[in-house]
Amino acid sequence: MLGLKLPTDPRWVNLAEMDLEEILTDHAYCEQKAATSCITLIQKYPDKKRMVEELAPIVTEEWGHFRLVLQELDKRDLELGYQRKDEYVNELRKFQVKDGSRDSRLVEQLLVCALIEARSCERFRLLSLHIADDDLKEFYHKFMISEAGHYRLFIDLAKHYGDPEKVKVRWQEYLDFEAGLMDRIAVRGDRMH
Ligand SMILES: [Fe+2]
Ligand SMILES: [Fe+2]
Repeated sequence: MLGLKLPTDPRWVNLAEMDLEEILTDHAYCEQKAATSCITLIQKYPDKKRMVEELAPIVTEEWGHFRLVLQELDKRDLELGYQRKDEYVNELRKFQVKDGSRDSRLVEQLLVCALIEARSCERFRLLSLHIADDDLKEFYHKFMISEAGHYRLFIDLAKHYGDPEKVKVRWQEYLDFEAGLMDRIAVRGDRMH
């Protein structure tokens, strides 16, 4: 359903659960960045009424996710660390075409958001299935469902503001690029991506 072309290395869950403070910290900032991206899109494109209306509640939802991760840290007496360099997102941004028309730049941004949601969803699914802690299994199951909805929403918005056929083609290019990226960057247990 997500269309991702390279499944996550199965060793990743084992690495991630070795240090919950690290992975929860990285996850917390992913949620914060998701909220920030939606705010930025609204600030840049206030005239895109449908997008503004659909993303406004997502900001609240992503911030709610951030707070849920904080609670999980707190429950376990773990601390939120500092934000890290996000190689995955930085590389995706490099692939983004930034010199097109205003609408095509919007479509590029929406597709990057869709891709981050899709990969997050895939990883949450793996955690929900394979992490040893039963509470976390349930915790990640809820995130998986929520991020799958966001992935769908960003794709729908991209098709609404761009030519749906061109968006389809460009989405495939993004999926190919992302598969290459996943293959290239190291599998790290302290990163959500
Ligand atoms: Fe989220
Ligand atoms: Fe999301």
